[in-house]
Amino acid sequence: MNELVSYRQLGEIAVITINNPPVNALSPGVPEGIAAGIEHATADDHIKGVILIGGGRTFIAGADIKEFGKVIAGEKEEGSLLPLLLLIEDSTKPVVAALHGSAFGGGLEIAMACHYRVADKAAQVGQPEVKLGIIPGAAGTQRLPRLAGVERAVEMCVTGAPVNAADALASGIVDQLIDGDLLAGASAFLREKIASGRAHPKTRERHDKLGDEAANAAIIAAAREKAKKTARGLIAPITAIDAVEAATKLPFDEGCQFERKLFEQCLFSDQAKALIHVFFAERDVAKIPGLSSETKSIEIKQAAIVGAGTMGGGIAMNFANAGVPVLLKESEQGALDRGMAAITKNYANTVRKGRLTEEAMQQRLALIQPTLSYDGFENADIIIEAVFENMALKKEIFAELDQRAKPGALLATNTSSLNLDEIAAITSRTASVIGLHFFSPANVMRLLEIVRGQATSDEAIVTAFALAKLMKKVGVLVGNCHGFVGNRMFFQYMREAYFLVEEGAAVEAVDKALTDFGMAMGLLAVDDMAGIDVGVRVRQENKRNEPPGRRQPLVVDKLYELGRYGQKTGAGWYRYDENRRAIPDPEVAALIERLAGDAGIKRRDISALEIVERCIYALINEGAKILEEGFAWRAGDIDIVYLNGYGFPAWRGGPMWYADTVGVKNVYDRVCALHAEHGAWWEPAPLLKQLAENGGSFAAWDKEKGTQK
Ligand SMILES: NC(=O)c1ccc[n+]([C@@H]2O[C@H](COP(=O)([O-])OP(=O)(O)OC[C@H]3O[C@@H](n4cnc5c(N)ncnc54)[C@H](O)[C@@H]3O)[C@@H](O)[C@H]2O)c1
Repeated sequence: MNELVSYRQLGEIAVITINNPPVNALSPGVPEGIAAGIEHATADDHIKGVILIGGGRTFIAGADIKEFGKVIAGEKEEGSLLPLLLLIEDSTKPVVAALHGSAFGGGLEIAMACHYRVADKAAQVGQPEVKLGIIPGAAGTQRLPRLAGVERAVEMCVTGAPVNAADALASGIVDQLIDGDLLAGASAFLREKIASGRAHPKTRERHDKLGDEAANAAIIAAAREKAKKTARGLIAPITAIDAVEAATKLPFDEGCQFERKLFEQCLFSDQAKALIHVFFAERDVAKIPGLSSETKSIEIKQAAIVGAGTMGGGIAMNFANAGVPVLLKESEQGALDRGMAAITKNYANTVRKGRLTEEAMQQRLALIQPTLSYDGFENADIIIEAVFENMALKKEIFAELDQRAKPGALLATNTSSLNLDEIAAITSRTASVIGLHFFSPANVMRLLEIVRGQATSDEAIVTAFALAKLMKKVGVLVGNCHGFVGNRMFFQYMREAYFLVEEGAAVEAVDKALTDFGMAMGLLAVDDMAGIDVGVRVRQENKRNEPPGRRQPLVVDKLYELGRYGQKTGAGWYRYDENRRAIPDPEVAALIERLAGDAGIKRRDISALEIVERCIYALINEGAKILEEGFAWRAGDIDIVYLNGYGFPAWRGGPMWYADTVGVKNVYDRVCALHAEHGAWWEPAPLLKQLAENGGSFAAWDKEKGTQK
């Protein structure tokens, strides 16, 4: 039919195959090729039925997301699949969709317009559009409830979660599962349908699963209530419910028109733009300019970790979860036992929640070998140090590792704040030394900052990215500056929260403004969770590198003095009940008022808008400095750090994307005003100024500079 879609005959059956690797996305040419295949089969009297199947590893995994980007940018019109779907459904010859791999988004919409669907046992189906801030736009919300019922359809369209083949069969989305060869199975199924002589069902004409008004009203109301909580701030999930509801109330054609209108509203929304940016930023993050594509990763067959504390234990679990044996070394038996007990408890909790089998837990535990010696470290392909944050101790350990590790092994430190180059310099192999900055809890958090030292080799970097992938994390390459990317920005962000409470904002008002903005947690609640003692120590350390004479927060140091370390002591910025629920504490409010009064700080009403601007613009301003200084490649990389390590809402695209959404000029003007009002902390980043003055954006900067260095 064309180079993306082929057509062949198997006796009386026409086989239309999509060949658009890697995932048979619906790029331009694919829908046209399928349509041509259907027309060809219709015109050929010898043909009695059609099979639509994917070549390679999957059926159709969805739309070509690059094309959405072009539509949003106004470079092309959105081409609707609806005419193709009607062509398939109205075909005089039965069409079977044969599914393997994934049938997602437009892929499932096409399959649902076929008269029948058969699936390989490992296939998955889904309408994941909400993950990009949109809803199905080719009758997915209209046909799915007709096949699977209203409740299932709502759930699939709201969560975007995939459904496995067995569930798809049980809920009526597919008609039969195929054991063995898919094409042979689909052919046998189709021959039977042809032989039966019965009419072939059109999904759009079915009403049997659409339920009654009262039941649907309850389902829809419950879904709306749930989405308000689980999809906080997101437009698309709520919109998807409206679209499925329309399927229960309107004739099919009107339902499709209604869906189309909602789809377009979503596609041009800031949320879709942000989520599509995130999709591409995440793909770009591993593309390192200047790194030869020939560079190969070390094979990671054996790992070793020094330090079985909070981080070491979590990192060991990551290796075990990926099936890699790992030695876990401690300095004394008590600490080793505590470390292993924490790991076991962690796995047991997952088993209790039904997310891991007892057997898998035992297999994973067996991969973690506790030890008090360095024996076996000579076999490790990668060694990660996670001992106390102390330079002398880290140097001692790296000197030892230098003696023991095999040539070429990756030597990594999990330091959050120490100078990587100083640690590397103690070894005779600086090229193999790298920072791997995991986030706590290390077995949960998806972010991995990969810190490149002065001498770190390309091979070490490629291996670190391979490790991130192996552990199902997102690795971001950052430079060796204090706090790297995430924490360096976080210091500025936290500082503003401290100042805001001293100037008059209530503790809970600061947190509420940020969670209303979409952050996973408020900053002061985060401070209580991470430990005020930890934060104070870090800030004291930072102070040594700061220009003198800058305003310093007062209250947090007092909380520290009072032993209010946060959740772990039952009190910090908040009080905590026995369920660790945060309760605003009048004592803290009084303390803040007294200290601010003593320091002569004028207290005033502070709006939620000011809270958000001061906290988020502090992030952006520091992000711009990091970018210009070359400690991050791309603004998009910074966004990925904040989305995966700091609870920034994906639908706002990350702090740098958010700056573009607000307008860099607007952000810059506000930063200048804050600079005039609050002084040196708000010194505008030169890059922010430059972009503002030239009408630029971080996205445009990325396009121009982010691929060059
Ligand atoms: N906790 C976090 O949130 C976090 C996040 C990112 C990075 N980090 C960094 O990770 C590192 C570890 O932090 P942590 O929170 O896991 O600390 P931790 O205090 O929980 O654990 C450190 C462990 O190292 C062990 N240890 C000390 N000397 C040792 C030696 N010679 N051989 C073997 N084991 C030894 C200690 O007994 C202790 O169990 C630090 O560099 C820290 O800055 C921590």
